[in-house]
Amino acid sequence: MPLLLPALLYYPCWTELKIETIISVRMSAQAKPRILFSQVKIEATVRRLAAEIMRDYQDKHPLFIGVLKGSFVFMADLIRFLDFPLEVDFIRLSSYGGGSQTSGKVKVVQGLRSKVKGRDVLIIEDIVDTGLTTAFLLDYLQQKNPASLKLCSLTDKPSRRKVPVAIDYLGFTVPNKFVVGYGLDYDEKFRNLPDICVMEGEG
Ligand code: PRP
Repeated sequence: MPLLLPALLYYPCWTELKIETIISVRMSAQAKPRILFSQVKIEATVRRLAAEIMRDYQDKHPLFIGVLKGSFVFMADLIRFLDFPLEVDFIRLSSYGGGSQTSGKVKVVQGLRSKVKGRDVLIIEDIVDTGLTTAFLLDYLQQKNPASLKLCSLTDKPSRRKVPVAIDYLGFTVPNKFVVGYGLDYDEKFRNLPDICVMEGEG
């Protein structure tokens, strides 16, 4: 680790992401999830979002686009509170940092099957962090000429924002900590926790 850290710091665009990764490796031995938002609170919030979405979309036969993987639990619960015709599709994106490029490049790794042109599209996210993924997706979908395009996110971490993103339907604002559960992962773990938790206890 002593040799690895200076090497990573040499590449400025890796710095933030990789230091976070190193911290997460240190954290993994003793870190424990602590409940931030309980199942009860989550259900109330998802019902509230569903009511807002129902009000705006019930006559529009919208297309909901879930961003994999993190949004799958939220989306599954949300649509079951919606009592009107809608369609769902999924997209999977990946961001990466190249040695000589600015971090946050995003690419589509699993595309949509649905036509977006002329549809009322609602993106379903689990978290907006730096905003880079969402900003990319909004631009990507806008180029396909939807009738309308909006964003619903379960959580928002505004303290980490690098590009501005307007969230039309927001569940929770979260602190600048690792947030897991209810679809959100920590090194692919904890997606199955029923509560939204923060990881506490660095090793
Ligand atoms: C998460 C989340 C968003 C993105 C937000 O996905 O689902 O898509 O990060 O981050 P940003 O605002 O900094 O761009 P992640 O890449 O962790 O994949 P996952 O959903 O499979 O966990």
